[in-house]
Amino acid sequence: MDFAQGSSVRREDARNNASALRPEAASIPAMTSQTATPNRIEHQLTDKGYVPVYTTAVVEQPWSSYSTTDHEVWATLFERQQQILQGRASDEFLRNQRAMGMTPDRIPKFDDLNRVLRPATGWELIGVEGLLPELTFFDHLANRRFPVTWWIRKPEQLDYLSEPDLFHDLFGHVPLLMNPVFADYMAAYGRGGVKAHGIGPEALVNLTRLYWYTVEFGLIKQDDGLRIYGSGIVSSKGESIHCLESAAPNRVGFDLERIMRTRYRIDTYQKTYFVIDSYEQLMEATQPDFTPIYARLGSQASFPAGEVQDTDTVFHCGTGEGWLDDGDV
Ligand code: PHE
Ligand code: CO
Repeated sequence: MDFAQGSSVRREDARNNASALRPEAASIPAMTSQTATPNRIEHQLTDKGYVPVYTTAVVEQPWSSYSTTDHEVWATLFERQQQILQGRASDEFLRNQRAMGMTPDRIPKFDDLNRVLRPATGWELIGVEGLLPELTFFDHLANRRFPVTWWIRKPEQLDYLSEPDLFHDLFGHVPLLMNPVFADYMAAYGRGGVKAHGIGPEALVNLTRLYWYTVEFGLIKQDDGLRIYGSGIVSSKGESIHCLESAAPNRVGFDLERIMRTRYRIDTYQKTYFVIDSYEQLMEATQPDFTPIYARLGSQASFPAGEVQDTDTVFHCGTGEGWLDDGDV
């Protein structure tokens, strides 16, 4: 079993975790319309050791500086995933991806995609260096700005990357922003994030699990069977197959509070996938004020990533084959 072929976004949740290793988001830079020159800082020595640090500035996509290799990496990943996702990704994802006009021949220009996206749902893509401080990230979403990492992985990282890159963000996240209901859900999540941030770290952990098990790793039940809508899955060759076809993971029905209590994996495939009936279900279930839910969950224990609960609607009870015992976050 090769877990290195897992999702390309294992550490993406870092943006929402109240991790001691992240630079503090104490002062949020005011958003301006000005863009900075892309300048990615790989690692910086701090009193916590070497940690990746990024400028939080919005950057202009340096499109003309992409190399032939960059465009080839895009083409390879795009064609490979297009093929794998036929009959696996949700109809809505595939339809909107076509509507956006993303093609394999070259890395799309954010400006071109924005001309399609903005009139459809009011969302726009902004270029960023990488993970953002959580409050900055929530603020962007609440205002219908989706941060897209401007750089793309190297050819030797086709199957695994420990942080989101352009392929994950564009190919994985952007198509569903064309869907009005999902677009509203993402903006509501941003507002909910700002609120949870004000409530405290435990509330943020609960909310982050919801993002993880829906936006990143969600499945949807279509008339013709289970399909993928989570961006962490659609941008990963291995997990696109694993999540639907492997006997190992659990596949259970969406349940808001159950998800908010469930730990997850950042370095292997998920042990449990949650299945929604529709994007409307997602929107409706998350409509109520979460404040009393956070308060209630505060006193309850979390669930291990792979444990099926009595209350679950079980589509498939996982065999657990190949699971590592520890490592849930
Ligand atoms: N209703 C949630 C709250 O009150 C906000 C939210 C909406 C969170 C949609 C996630 C998704 O906090
Ligand atoms: Co992502």
